[in-house]
Amino acid sequence: MGLKNKDLLGMKQLSPEEIMEILETAKMMKMVISSGNKKTTHLQGKSIVTLFYENSTRTRLSFELASKYMGSASANISTSGSSVNKGESLLDTARTIDMMGTDIIIMRHNQSGAPHFIAPYLNASVVNAGDGMNEHPTQALLDMLTMYERFDTFEGKKIAICGDIYHSRVVRSNAIGLTKLGAKVSVYGPRTMMPIGIEKMGVTVADSVIDCCRNADAVMGLRVQLERQKSSLFPSVSEYAKFYAITKEALSAAKPEAFLMHPGPCNHGVELPTEVYDCDQSVINEQVTNGVAVRMAVLYLLMARRNEL
Ligand code: CP
Repeated sequence: MGLKNKDLLGMKQLSPEEIMEILETAKMMKMVISSGNKKTTHLQGKSIVTLFYENSTRTRLSFELASKYMGSASANISTSGSSVNKGESLLDTARTIDMMGTDIIIMRHNQSGAPHFIAPYLNASVVNAGDGMNEHPTQALLDMLTMYERFDTFEGKKIAICGDIYHSRVVRSNAIGLTKLGAKVSVYGPRTMMPIGIEKMGVTVADSVIDCCRNADAVMGLRVQLERQKSSLFPSVSEYAKFYAITKEALSAAKPEAFLMHPGPCNHGVELPTEVYDCDQSVINEQVTNGVAVRMAVLYLLMARRNEL
């Protein structure tokens, strides 16, 4: 019972069995959420802190709700209003939170590898809530839960992912998790936003949005991450929308029962036209709901390991 490692740093560290255990646990947590009484005692007497060095709506709030639903004492700290703004180092900040008896620290940071750096120094379990351009494991897990509710197996399923591949920690975590479970991942985006050697991750690079979506079981759009670009990597928003957005035509190249995903937040009219964002095949709002269930499952399974030890 519980996860093998003290920390959840990435999909890379999870075995296929652990991924499935998280998804099955999240399904149960979803039943708790929809039962009308969201309160459980799984984390009673435990303390959980979210430490966010980057902005977030979905990830931070869903972790906060998940920990509150499960009865823990939870607190939040971000760069503004904390001693980080007085120059306190990442490690000193993390150790300070740890020494207050915190059981789980959930961290988002703009530097790839930041949670991996602090985790060995801490007694608390560290959960990666997004580190630079590296990984966003709980996003991939909620995406996979959304798929798992529609597929009985990931084996042989084709997942199309289009957009800003280069800057996306979401695509990296999804590619690692989905290929571990036997799915085939196809990616497409501007050449300037495609990491060299991405094929080594076991994904195929498509020639167009339509080629990427063709016969896909699920289609995922990615946000253009302007905040991570020093200078624009494409000529104009209108050209991006013309050549790289997931249009109705592109979505119709996927299987008839295929569904549309996006991790959010979305630049409407850039990576997705609004009518596609809101179309019947869109499960974007459901992904948000699944985010709470997956984060409840992750906290529960990390705490189960700690309790067992
Ligand atoms: N998908 C995601 O990580 O969204 P937030 O940045 O709002 O947390």
